Amino acid sequence: MASYSKIVAMFFAGSVMLTVGISPTMAAMGMTSPSMGNPCHAVARNPCAVSKKIDKNLLIRPAGTKLMVRKRQTLIKEGQRLWHDKSLGTNGLSCDSCHHDHAAFRASFAKPYPHYVTMPGQQAGMKKIHLDEMIQFCMISSLAAKPLPWNSRKLAALTAYTKTVQKSFKPSAPMDSIKGNNPCHPNSMGKIRNPCQPKMANPCAAKR
Ligand code: HEC
Repeated sequence: MASYSKIVAMFFAGSVMLTVGISPTMAAMGMTSPSMGNPCHAVARNPCAVSKKIDKNLLIRPAGTKLMVRKRQTLIKEGQRLWHDKSLGTNGLSCDSCHHDHAAFRASFAKPYPHYVTMPGQQAGMKKIHLDEMIQFCMISSLAAKPLPWNSRKLAALTAYTKTVQKSFKPSAPMDSIKGNNPCHPNSMGKIRNPCQPKMANPCAAKR
């Protein structure tokens, strides 16, 4: 229950109250109070979006810091391992839990960095974000973790690997083709690997 509560705290706390009916997913999760603002709710704009604000200063790379330089292939290999590492964060998720087969990315991911990304835009007021900064955003917002040290090998490795993930990403990915951009929308069930589908290790799933 502890990890679930953490996730609930992270994804639900402070989120906008939704007053429309209760979805089956929500009922299955035992979340029958509409006041909880369920991110998987059919009318939620974004499943994983929280209204929780994130301090911009945690996301902006401090002037004078650089990503650690190592052989590209070495970093990619390490980054791939970290991408699947559930101990990177504190909520039992890995990057892959949400982003398997390019899930949960919006069309913005196809654009060269820096660019605008909805969630850090809404939650931290970032007008543009670099890839390493975006990874820090997901560390904080999605893995309930502290940002990685800017000069760390881990951040360099994740950035190198995520670049390879970006190369094979096509903007027609599910997140954009689903009504309301919501991968938790009931219509999306079965069409994509839905991060809110109860069977997956995911932020919106009921505890098994
Ligand atoms: C709980 C689910 C979740 C987890 C875990 C997660 N992310 Fe994300 N991530 C998202 C969502 C949702 C978006 C879409 C944000 C948007 O477009 O507003 C996203 C977007 C991104 C983007 C693309 C931003 C763009 O340019 O459009 C990158 C890169 C990214 N995540 C990297 C990572 C990395 C690396 C990890 C692991 C350290 C990670 N994510 C873990 C949910 C998650």
